[in-house]
Amino acid sequence: MRLNGKTAIVTGGARGIGAAIAAGFVREGARVCVADIEHAEAQKTASVIGGGSFAVPLDVTNTHSIAACVAEVEKVAGGVDILVNNAAIFDMGPLVDIPEKSYDRVFAVNVKGVLFMMQAVAKSMIARGQGGKIINFASQAGRRGEPLVAVYCASKAAVISLTQSAGLALIKHGINVNGISPGVVDTPMWDHVDGLFAKYENRPLGEKKRLVGEGVPYGRMGLPEDHVGCAIFLASSESDYVVAQTFNVDGGQWMN
Ligand SMILES: NC(=O)c1ccc[n+]([C@@H]2O[C@H](COP(=O)([O-])OP(=O)(O)OC[C@H]3O[C@@H](n4cnc5c(N)ncnc54)[C@H](O)[C@@H]3O)[C@@H](O)[C@H]2O)c1
Repeated sequence: MRLNGKTAIVTGGARGIGAAIAAGFVREGARVCVADIEHAEAQKTASVIGGGSFAVPLDVTNTHSIAACVAEVEKVAGGVDILVNNAAIFDMGPLVDIPEKSYDRVFAVNVKGVLFMMQAVAKSMIARGQGGKIINFASQAGRRGEPLVAVYCASKAAVISLTQSAGLALIKHGINVNGISPGVVDTPMWDHVDGLFAKYENRPLGEKKRLVGEGVPYGRMGLPEDHVGCAIFLASSESDYVVAQTFNVDGGQWMN
């Protein structure tokens, strides 16, 4: 049990990769706060994974919501040991037609949310004086551009950069900040992605998803569970000397 007695917040933990990580942390002895904008779904996930886990409503774009979430976890569990910044949204479209609203929303969730969750949790960890672990979810999309996915790609490049800066800023407090960069993962997000590619590339539904899966060197799309091992490593003391890195967990899609 590598996370015995630890308390973790998993943003966007109601479903997909976040829910798999929350369940994996519980198996390693942690208690998890499943923090999601879809609170009813988060409550179901918390009750399924057990281990004293609980759900707290959270909108990562709203700093009042972030403060209330961290205060609730401090009250219920005495403090935060691990933060997983997993919540994110996806949008795409031709560069010349990107609506300002789409840019604002993607950056609010994927970038502002990551920064201000880190800020609130780091303050709490510093005040408690026991260090901690922060894991940010980037994407292979943050490693290079894509013609139809400019804003999401830029938001994930920003997550990699924030992970570097925060990692360097916080290690003196015993807080390790690192990231995970998935490739293509079979979650509700990818069903949404597939629908958008069908629209913009004039394909039948399901075709893009099949093609990207076939293109993964490992031989298939990722599953949420594929990311749990790396997340447990980054959340445990085994990664104490790992600082400001973002790990590709993507079946060989990207090398650096
Ligand atoms: N699925 C993929 O192929 C893929 C690839 C690379 C990176 N990622 C990244 O992995 C992470 C998890 O992706 P997923 O596929 O499990 O996504 P998902 O869409 O299945 O789940 C995302 C969760 O975030 C929650 N959420 C959305 N907006 C929120 C907000 N404002 N506040 C709080 N919660 C909010 C949703 O309710 C949902 O539960 C994301 O950071 C995503 O960008 C996913």
